[in-house]
Amino acid sequence: MKRWNLFAVIGAVAALTTSTASGQTTMVGEAHDFSGSGWSGGEICKPCHTPHHALTDESGAQVGWLWNHELTTSTYTMYDGSTADAGPDDGDAAFDKLSRLCMGCHDGTVAVDSFGGQTGSIFLTGDKNLETDLSDDHPVGFTAVYPTVASSKWQPADASHKLGPGGALKLREMNIGGTQTYVVGCMTCHTPHYKGFDHQLRMSNASSALCLSCHVK
Ligand code: HEC
Ligand code: HEC
Ligand code: HEC
Ligand code: HEC
Repeated sequence: MKRWNLFAVIGAVAALTTSTASGQTTMVGEAHDFSGSGWSGGEICKPCHTPHHALTDESGAQVGWLWNHELTTSTYTMYDGSTADAGPDDGDAAFDKLSRLCMGCHDGTVAVDSFGGQTGSIFLTGDKNLETDLSDDHPVGFTAVYPTVASSKWQPADASHKLGPGGALKLREMNIGGTQTYVVGCMTCHTPHYKGFDHQLRMSNASSALCLSCHVK
């Protein structure tokens, strides 16, 4: 009887561990875990980061974050129909530095397996490829400068340029015509890693909570 009780306890502990695991916030098994794809070399981080010999951009500056993936050099059609370069962020870039890193796979012009100095051949397709025409996507970069003046249409950002519950959504810094400006970027709504929400989002969008963190509607 004592023995049976012990198994019951072990069972209960196992059940607890399972329920904790289902609330996981690591990227293992999520959209950006490429370790199961032949092209990744069996690693998760490597297509994006490297411990050594990180990339510089076309101005010769370190990209940052020990970046390992080839950058995009595309010109984009923005939400308002205007066009702009990918960067570097010298005043004529389409969007902030971090969005540029995302577009290095998600604009469909650079192969996902172009990292660590090798030129790959596998490109994102379907909905995962936003292409270089962003006029059909939520505004980002210079077409999504967040209002600094409070109004009946916008939630006020806090002093660290964050919005949403617990400051889950962070506006991104961008140089527009020589002025540091705060804009919506890919990384405002998404995380490259994983935070426990669908579509790599930074917070749940159930009942459009993400949208309502900025838009008063
Ligand atoms: C799809 C590309 C991608 C993959 C894969 C990826 N990262 Fe990142 N990582 C980024 C980007 C973009 C940033 C910069 C933005 C930021 O601060 O979160 C970043 C930032 C970081 C940072 C510095 C900022 C922070 O959040 O602490 C660390 C550390 C990091 N990544 C570790 C990892 C590790 C470890 C892995 C593998 C388990 C990994 N990343 C996989 C894209 C990626
Ligand atoms: C190394 C290439 C690479 C980079 C860099 C990259 N992604 Fe991805 N992303 C992928 C691949 C591959 C998938 C999975 C496609 C699939 O499942 O068919 C993906 C999937 C996604 C998805 C869909 C998730 C879902 O569950 O619907 C989102 C959102 C996303 N990425 C956003 C981003 C953002 C934001 C950045 C920049 C921080 C970024 N990605 C950078 C390669 C990349
Ligand atoms: C204003 C918030 C917001 C911004 C900014 C944003 N996204 Fe998303 N994205 C979302 C939401 C919400 C979804 C999930 C849509 C759904 O429910 O189908 C999504 C879905 C995606 C998907 C999956 C598409 C699919 O149909 O599977 C990819 C890939 C993606 N985003 C990449 C990006 C990239 C790259 C950027 C920057 C150019 C970006 N997103 C900017 C909110 C945003
Ligand atoms: C981080 C803040 C933020 C979030 C989150 C956000 N938006 Fe936006 N949205 C903006 C900004 C900034 C603009 C650009 C507005 C401008 O310049 O007039 C914009 C523009 C728009 C526009 C275009 C308006 C026009 O005048 O053409 C629509 C529609 C919209 N957002 C819907 C959404 C939806 C739906 C969601 C949720 C999936 C969402 N937004 C999430 C900040 C945000």
